[in-house]
Amino acid sequence: MQFLVSRFNPERDEKPWMQTFEVETWRGMMLRDALLEIKRQDESFAFRHSCGEGVCGSDGVNVNGTNRLACITPVSELKAPVEVRPFPGRPIIRDLVVDMSQFYRQYRAVDPWLVRKDPMPEQEILQSPEEREKLDGLYECILCGCCSTACPSFWWNPEKFHGPQALLTAWRFLADSRDQAEQERLDALEGPYRLFRCHTIMNCVEVCPKGLNPTKAIGHIKQLMLKNAI
Ligand code: FES
Repeated sequence: MQFLVSRFNPERDEKPWMQTFEVETWRGMMLRDALLEIKRQDESFAFRHSCGEGVCGSDGVNVNGTNRLACITPVSELKAPVEVRPFPGRPIIRDLVVDMSQFYRQYRAVDPWLVRKDPMPEQEILQSPEEREKLDGLYECILCGCCSTACPSFWWNPEKFHGPQALLTAWRFLADSRDQAEQERLDALEGPYRLFRCHTIMNCVEVCPKGLNPTKAIGHIKQLMLKNAI
C-alpha cells in the first residue's frame, strides 16, 4: 500500500514536503504499525506514539484529511494512497510532531481540577448515581488534541479561543456536583473569544476518537450562563 507522508526537518527544509513509502499491509494492521514500518525504512522519520491502545493520546495525526489516532485506525479503512500529515494549525517541530503547548495552555486556563470551598470531609465527597452519571461523556477525554486541531475557530484564534477540548473540560467540572466554583468558572469564560468563538462547526464531534461531544458541552455552558443571567 502506498503512503504519502509529510516530512519537515527545520534544519534542512524551508517547508513541509510529501515522501512516498510502500508498506506491506497485513490483516488487522493499524496506521501506527504502518508508521513504524516507515520508520524502519527511514529512521530519521519522526512521529509520537506510546500506548498503542487509544489511551495516551499521543499519536494524533491527520489522515486523508481527518484527525485520527494512528494506533486505533485500521489501515483497511483507509483509501490509498494514504496521506499522513501533522495536525493542522499547529507549529511543526519535525515531520508529524507538532508543538501542542498552546493546546495545553488552553486546557490549564479552565482550572481542570475540583474546587472546594467547604472544609474537606474526613472521607470522600459522596455523589448520587444520577450526579455521577452527568460526568459520562465528559471525563473520558484523553487530551489527544484531535478536536481542537480540527477546529477552524481554534486555528484562527489559538491564543484567545479555548477550543473544544478545554471547553469540554470546563463543562466536566461545571457539571460535577462536588465542584463549588460555578460562578468563577462562568466568569472566566465571559467575553467574545474564550467560549463564544465556537461557531458550532462540529468538526470536533466528528473527529473525537472517544465519541465525545464538545459542541454539546459548549451548548450546556452557554445555557447555564443564560440561566444565571436571568
Ligand atoms: Fe497512545 Fe495511540 S499510541 S493513543
